[in-house]
Amino acid sequence: MLGVLCGVVSSAVAETPVERGSYLVNAVMVCDGCHSPRGPGDLAIPSGLSVERRFSGGVEVWETPAYTVHGSNITTDRDTGIGSWSGVDIKRLMTEGIRPDGVRVAPQMPYHFYRILTPGDLDAVTSYLKTIKPVSNEMPPPVYKTAVKPPPLPGAETSIGDTVPTDPVARGFYLATLANCMGCHSRRPDGVQDFRNWWGKGGFEIKGEFGSVVVSNISAHREKGVGARTDAELKRALTEGIGHDGRLLKMPMARQVYLSRMTEQDLNAVIAWMRSIPPIE
Ligand code: HEC
Ligand code: HEC
Repeated sequence: MLGVLCGVVSSAVAETPVERGSYLVNAVMVCDGCHSPRGPGDLAIPSGLSVERRFSGGVEVWETPAYTVHGSNITTDRDTGIGSWSGVDIKRLMTEGIRPDGVRVAPQMPYHFYRILTPGDLDAVTSYLKTIKPVSNEMPPPVYKTAVKPPPLPGAETSIGDTVPTDPVARGFYLATLANCMGCHSRRPDGVQDFRNWWGKGGFEIKGEFGSVVVSNISAHREKGVGARTDAELKRALTEGIGHDGRLLKMPMARQVYLSRMTEQDLNAVIAWMRSIPPIE
């Protein structure tokens, strides 16, 4: 009886909002990928990460016909980061993409994916961000040429509800949305995200210092997608950055190895979700 009670108490104590926020930010949502500096040639997080200057601004520049932006300094530095923002300011940015000055950020910041957050998880991420140590680093200001509003993401137009689903496919969809998988995997060859007609189809070519790579089809299609892969192969891709053919995956995907920090339950849920993506070719 005592053991049972202790078990309940310790699991309730185990996760404070800051701990939950840390898990989401560091194992699932990887703000690092866009918001932390990395040295040239550093492929995978966490090995290539500049730990001291984490979250103080990314190295990548996203230049599109609509905007030129960099991953902002999201440390608590008051002058060059978001140290002066309130919790409400942070939540509005995270789910609507609107800064305290009313300007909407470029959808390179995947706020249209973060709308799905449960209120508790949104609070948790916000609490965690407030614990990040300040790093002074002035990032170049964004340049906006035309206004862009990202397309709505079916099933993620708004918060999924008060609790994270336990059903594996629904849970996997929640986590994969937070991990922004379809930010790359549902991008058409012209670079536009199309969540209705291009769900998991891949085909967008990403270019960078690593060369160039075409995003894979991750639908359940047996030949074009991942339908014929084993769970172990899919896990290896996510946690070790190794493809089904034993090859090291290129940078944009290899970076997803941070998912190795996910709990077994969550990782299995992401795999279950991938298997549910309708075959498309
Ligand atoms: C795929 C890349 C990407 C990921 C992942 C990402 N961001 Fe961003 N974020 C950006 C970019 C790019 C901007 C700047 C957009 C602009 O200037 O219009 C931005 C802007 C922001 C801003 C506004 C900062 C300011 O000063 O205006 C905040 C806050 C923010 N992100 C927090 C986060 C958090 C927290 C996470 C993880 C939960 C995250 N971002 C994940 C790319 C990303
Ligand atoms: C930043 C863009 C990006 C994001 C985000 C992303 N991927 Fe990928 N993914 C890629 C690219 C590019 C490839 C192809 C890599 C290669 O061929 O070297 C790929 C390949 C894959 C593969 C095929 C591996 C193989 O065996 O060939 C799987 C499975 C996969 N991604 C699943 C996911 C899942 C699940 C997520 C979210 C948790 C995700 N990806 C997030 C870009 C991305």
